Amino acid sequence: MLKDRTVVLGVTGSIAAYKAAEIASQLTQSGAIVNVVMTEGATQFISPLTFRALTGRPVVTEMFDVTSEYSVEHVSLARSADIVVVAPATANAIAKLAAGIADDMLCCTVLATRAPVIVAPAMETNMYENPITQDNLSELKERGFVIVGPAAGWLASGREGPGRLADISDVVGTVRRVLGKQGDLAGKHIVVSAGGTQEPIDPVRCIVNRSSGKMGYALAEAAIERGAKVSLITAPVSLGIPIGADAMSVRTADEMRQALESLVPTADAVIMAAAVADYRPKNLAREKMKKRAGGIKLELESTPDIIGNLKGDFVKIGFAAETTNMVENATQKLKEKRLDLIVANDVTAADSGFGTDTNRVTIIDSQGAVEALPVLTKRQVAEKVLDRVVTLLTKTES
Ligand code: C5P
Repeated sequence: MLKDRTVVLGVTGSIAAYKAAEIASQLTQSGAIVNVVMTEGATQFISPLTFRALTGRPVVTEMFDVTSEYSVEHVSLARSADIVVVAPATANAIAKLAAGIADDMLCCTVLATRAPVIVAPAMETNMYENPITQDNLSELKERGFVIVGPAAGWLASGREGPGRLADISDVVGTVRRVLGKQGDLAGKHIVVSAGGTQEPIDPVRCIVNRSSGKMGYALAEAAIERGAKVSLITAPVSLGIPIGADAMSVRTADEMRQALESLVPTADAVIMAAAVADYRPKNLAREKMKKRAGGIKLELESTPDIIGNLKGDFVKIGFAAETTNMVENATQKLKEKRLDLIVANDVTAADSGFGTDTNRVTIIDSQGAVEALPVLTKRQVAEKVLDRVVTLLTKTES
């Protein structure tokens, strides 16, 4: 999504300006062409050289720079931009943008661009809460600017409160989300389940599995970047919710079923990447079970098959973690659950399956066509699965 996209990163004179270096770095690492524009104030906090080194691109600091590679700088920059991000944005920068004042290169560029503009405020709490700043931010929002943050926490003034620059992952995530609106899943509602469900035995114990949730989260993130509205139904995992996802946290298979049932009426596709427990304790002990000599017997019952019982007109995709006869077993699940696709993975391989960052998967469709993919990152697997979703959705529409 960010690859070969041009981001104009406007940096203004806030103590948080040093964090813009990390934003520039992450955007560049994701393949974006990052053109940094610094206000004079920003150059007091961080050197243009830092951005020059991180982006490999010239950094614009002067209104009239006769040595610049750009012809009419603000116009060329504004035209080249797929998106403009002002991070950090001071109260002063926000006031100028809201009033349309064009007395520096950044404000000129923002005025001259047709690209979406993201503004990440960073300032002292009183300045942020001042009605003048609030009005300015409302004005920008009304005009279609996307405001991200600020976060609350420790401020350079020594106080605590709202005014910190939003987390870098939020800023970069917002860039991805906004750019994704032009993607091939724009306007589609994709429901993704992720993580391993937990089935309680007693108030402190439960049956779990080794799912890390990484595959489901990668799918959610990729679908957001391709413009989808994403509902992420997540069992407990230790991953941050992708920016832009509507997340619902669940524990048990039954909670996951209920969450999915509430979402399918508007879904265009459901991707069941979650490792749902197949069995749960038949009886839930109300008190913590006491240790007993000789061991105990735990009676288990089957959980409901979630994806197999979901009714509605949407693309259904399942996952199958297998240890033997991968294609045969996965094909059988695809048929039993009436899926459009099943993504099988051999969880015995060290570079594939639970907890790894890579996956070696085979995609099988309802006609029985089998596509074995090489080892890919989970993100790359997510893109392959979503390519198939796009094709399936196009077929159902035509
Ligand atoms: O556990 P199994 O390998 O059968 O899972 C195959 C697919 O079915 C997966 O997509 C999984 O999320 C889904 N599943 C389900 N409800 C269950 C068990 C699995 O929807 N109770």
